[in-house]
Amino acid sequence: MKRIWWKEAVGYQIYPKSFKDTNGDGIGDIKGIVEKLPYLKELGIDFIWICPFYPSPMKDNGYDVADYYGIDPCFGTMEDMEFLLKKADESGIRVIVDMVLNHSSDQHKWFQEALKDPNSKYRDYYMFVQSKERPSNTRSCFGGSVWENVGEDTWYYHTFDKSQPDLNWENPQLREEVYNILNFWIEKGVSGFRFDAITYIKKADSLKSHEPDNTDGLIGVEKTGQNQKGIDKFLREMNRKCLSDPEIMTVAEAPGVPYENLAEFIGEDGYFSMVFDFSYADIDLCGPNWYNQAPWTFGDLKKLLFRSQCSVQTQGWGAVYLENHDQSRSLNKYFREKAAAKDDLHLRFLQGSALAALLMGLRGTVFIYQGEELGSVNGTFNSIEEYDDLNTRDQYQRALRAGFDVAQSLKFANDRSRDNSRMPFPWNEEEHGGFTSGTPWLKCNDDYASICAEKQSQDKNSLLYYYRNLIQVRKDEANRECLIYGEVREIENAVESVIAFERIAENGEKIQIWINMSDEIQKADIIEGELLCNNYSEFNRTSLQPYQAVMVR
Ligand code: GLC
Ligand code: CA
Repeated sequence: MKRIWWKEAVGYQIYPKSFKDTNGDGIGDIKGIVEKLPYLKELGIDFIWICPFYPSPMKDNGYDVADYYGIDPCFGTMEDMEFLLKKADESGIRVIVDMVLNHSSDQHKWFQEALKDPNSKYRDYYMFVQSKERPSNTRSCFGGSVWENVGEDTWYYHTFDKSQPDLNWENPQLREEVYNILNFWIEKGVSGFRFDAITYIKKADSLKSHEPDNTDGLIGVEKTGQNQKGIDKFLREMNRKCLSDPEIMTVAEAPGVPYENLAEFIGEDGYFSMVFDFSYADIDLCGPNWYNQAPWTFGDLKKLLFRSQCSVQTQGWGAVYLENHDQSRSLNKYFREKAAAKDDLHLRFLQGSALAALLMGLRGTVFIYQGEELGSVNGTFNSIEEYDDLNTRDQYQRALRAGFDVAQSLKFANDRSRDNSRMPFPWNEEEHGGFTSGTPWLKCNDDYASICAEKQSQDKNSLLYYYRNLIQVRKDEANRECLIYGEVREIENAVESVIAFERIAENGEKIQIWINMSDEIQKADIIEGELLCNNYSEFNRTSLQPYQAVMVR
């Protein structure tokens, strides 16, 4: 197994809009990230992945890029970014930036030119079609057709919102533009990229209609727009032109790639260092509609988790995460109605530390999402107007259209809204959690005073301390060969609600991880050895307390 920095690294995802505001406009900024580098250093973070900060009309919070070479004024300036890169480097923290290359914003100058002048070279940077009728019945990820009419029988294609027109990767000139963008940021000093929605860049017969999968007469874009034949040409070319240095870390959002084909993406000569797997993050859903909630058991979760882990390890390297900016908070997702109430801080610690042990025990580069280390939970949103996220608003409408009433539809939004994880970071007990001296762009969760970072950093028994400790355990010379490079093997005779597995180093050394996901005492059969972590003060090899999690070497 090849050794390289990003395999050993613990990463931290920053949603810049919600991390730290330094100028009182209610929006987090790059200076705020600089200010909080010491916090991240103390936590033990090796790299940060910053969600998009480019100039953007913010229809999809920056995932609609209007200029790939700039910084949106609400986040600061290019000088701020250069300063961040310098300061992060001085702290030994690398910076990974988000690249949104399946689509741009409709405000990008390429698209504006393309709209204005059908003969402009930029017309072919996008997917424009002349047609009397809607060219096909494909449904976009955020609802409605992928085709938007711009008059005179002219349509353009968008996988996501209509403000996010898809780039035409078939055009070699467009691809050159993309490679120039990547090389620009590499020269600036970033250590790698997170590629947004990258498996959508190749479309198969986008003009063809198919059997609808719902009453709207449309069929999800997954069928003709995800991981289509021929995508390898684009991804290999991009890798060759920009990403061939193995020190550059790349992580791709790559839905639609079956496990058997993963090696092409993440093997030794793969297009990327690693990809995110959504199988267990989406365990609570059947298909694309949030109102189709899936019933699931811890047995199902283990099946998905270990299928993912075991497939990835035979094919290459993986990325592990329990939260990101598109997901609800993990305490709510994985413990559902058993998730700790906001005022039950002890239970929040137990559940949070159980998930931390899981995250830190799995094989793959670890990604912590901002606030996860504090045990953040979902927000309370009392009406659809309180949400900012366009996806949440669309899903709410879908539920209403499917016949659910307002209360039910709001409940689906509450359970799944991307705004749950996008609420401002709680730094201290001051108003708005010290996130801003102004009015935050999205309200703060109402528990900020009890879980804020300042409070937890003064309490050795806090979840934040637990995370710091676990990160050190993972990096410890004595554990590294197991916890980073070791093979993962499920302990199959564990009871259903106990996630148990071992990590086995090449020299046969072994670490076992046991996590009781239930609120009852459960049987266990833990090896004898040194206890590396435990979220209780007592330890017994044959039983686990509610939510008890241990690692034993
Ligand atoms: C990815 C991003 C998500 C965004 C979408 C469109 O899934 O993670 O936040 O809305 O792509 O760019
Ligand atoms: Ca600001």
